[in-house]
Amino acid sequence: MSVILPFVSIFLLHVLTATSETILQCLSLHSDPSRPISAVTYFPKNPSYPPILEAYIRNLRFSSPTTPKPTFIVAPTHVSHIQASIICCKRFNLEIRTRSGGHDFEGLSYMSQTPFVIVDMFMLKSVEVDVEDQTAWVDSGSTIGELYYAIAEKSRVLGFPAGVCHSVGVGGHFSGGGYGNMMRRFGLSVDNVLDALIVDSEGRVLDRATMGEDLFWAIRGGGGASFGVIVSWKIRLVPVPEVVTVFRIEKTLEQDASDLVFQWQYVADKIHDGLFIRVVLSPVTRSDRKTIKAKFNALFLGNSQELLSVMNQSFPQLGLVAEQCIQMSWIQSVLFWDNYPVGTSVDVLLQRHATKEKFLKKKSDYVQQPISKAALEGIWKMMMELEKPVFTFNPYGGKMGEISEFETPFPHRFGNIFKIQYSVSWDEEGEDVAKQYLYQIRRLYDYMTPYVSYSPRSSYLNYRDVDIGVNGPGNATYAQASVWGRKYFKRNFDRLVQVKTKVDPSNFFRYEQSIPSLASAHSIVSEKKKP
Ligand SMILES: Cc1cc2nc3c(=O)[nH]c(=O)nc-3n(C[C@H](O)[C@H](O)[C@H](O)COP(=O)(O)OP(=O)(O)OC[C@H]3O[C@@H](n4cnc5c(N)ncnc54)[C@H](O)[C@@H]3O)c2cc1C
Ligand SMILES: *[C@@H]1O[C@H](CO)[C@@H](O)[C@H](O)[C@H]1NC(C)=O
Ligand SMILES: *[C@@H]1O[C@H](CO)[C@@H](O)[C@H](O)[C@H]1NC(C)=O
Repeated sequence: MSVILPFVSIFLLHVLTATSETILQCLSLHSDPSRPISAVTYFPKNPSYPPILEAYIRNLRFSSPTTPKPTFIVAPTHVSHIQASIICCKRFNLEIRTRSGGHDFEGLSYMSQTPFVIVDMFMLKSVEVDVEDQTAWVDSGSTIGELYYAIAEKSRVLGFPAGVCHSVGVGGHFSGGGYGNMMRRFGLSVDNVLDALIVDSEGRVLDRATMGEDLFWAIRGGGGASFGVIVSWKIRLVPVPEVVTVFRIEKTLEQDASDLVFQWQYVADKIHDGLFIRVVLSPVTRSDRKTIKAKFNALFLGNSQELLSVMNQSFPQLGLVAEQCIQMSWIQSVLFWDNYPVGTSVDVLLQRHATKEKFLKKKSDYVQQPISKAALEGIWKMMMELEKPVFTFNPYGGKMGEISEFETPFPHRFGNIFKIQYSVSWDEEGEDVAKQYLYQIRRLYDYMTPYVSYSPRSSYLNYRDVDIGVNGPGNATYAQASVWGRKYFKRNFDRLVQVKTKVDPSNFFRYEQSIPSLASAHSIVSEKKKP
């Protein structure tokens, strides 16, 4: 045996070409034989390949016949399937794209311009909640809806601070930061991660103790896909009251929306940290007239009486009255924020494909100074002219301002009043339509330049946007990657590069916005040594 094994690996390395047979041989050789990997490996000839590929393409822009397709897909049900995928993709010179919920706005979890494989995590979805310990282990392939459901099944007074759309995958969401409507009280998802299991570029399975604090730091907001495949996460659950209160108030420009949004900027990040008031702004037509609709969506971690008193004290202009307040359990508030009618069964959180997919594009910005009323008027005018793009304003402050910018790779903590999400989505097929809408959202982004953060103009990694810069083909240089890297990570970019260089020097885990390894971008190492 001891003679045969090295022989096999040399043989695979030098002689075999990548056919489905030779790849399967390699995969089987490097995974647990009691969990046959062949049963979860899909080559294009397999009738299951197209539906599995499509199932988690959540942006129709990347679902066309010309979209690059993977050489094969592995849908791991066991950690050894991930280990084998890494070892064999290295051997056959294939890239790996790891997909959890598939919501990457630019499709980077399931396509590449060079030959690649998808490690598709959707089967790894266990959630183990420990009520006594107030912690949980959640697999990357779970959705945040499944996580919320599992917590609520066990407790009415525990929750977790993560995103709003229940079909978002834990793997991408956590490794990119993860914010939601409890952010002002509890911070981001990654601020509540205690441990993780990762398979690294050597195929080793590591936990927090064995990966070390640098790598553990990096995967909490630095984007998991630059560092390995994260299998599962241990999280700290947070206390939620048995009764929370929500409201939704809509105002058009004719109903003083402008004034209210202007005022909102002065209170949203300073108000009681149990209150999160998001504003969604969209161009609409009312009685044949174009206007802007401002929708104020709120979650308050307390009852309606307390909320009324907080609002009366801090934001009376909105005119909140008791009739607009709805009291409910925390899990019901998750559904309310996900736009389900009050009273909907929590079972919808288990539906992974609740809505029809659309074509979409998103961008992000941070606002650090209140925007003047005159400037807001100009912005509304631009939005009405463009007709399609929508804004979501998410307030910061509270806990966010108390955590150091260096605590996790996510640097947008202190000094931001709110984050803007730009969003455009459509149902019509065709290149021309797409071009038109992409033009519109980019035009609006340009228009916003004077009102948002600068040097660098910051972006949120989980609102993936390739417009802000991408790596070229091959191994990215530090200079190339810092163009987009500083926008997502500011001064944390350098530490991410150090970690990457240490844990994946040969830059196996690479993609359009992966952290570069100084060991594989040689020119930069010498550049950096210059005085
Ligand atoms: C409707 C909707 C609502 C949203 N709301 C919010 C919100 O409220 N708050 C918020 O913060 N974000 C929100 N987002 C953005 C969301 O957090 C990101 O799109 C997130 O990255 C999606 O994770 P995913 O696992 O579904 O995506 P994927 O496309 O599977 O992955 C995204 C990225 O993470 C990598 N990755 C995925 N899994 C792993 C893994 N196991 N190991 C290593 N790398 C991995 C991928 O390779 C890719 O680079 C929303 C998105 C949508 C579509
Ligand atoms: C709102 O506050 C004012 C004083 O600041 C007070 O007179 C009034 O009764 C309060 N209203 C409610 C509904 O709490
Ligand atoms: C990237 O760098 C690694 C390690 O230095 C090297 O083996 C590999 O060939 C490089 N890839 C490309 C495409 O240049």
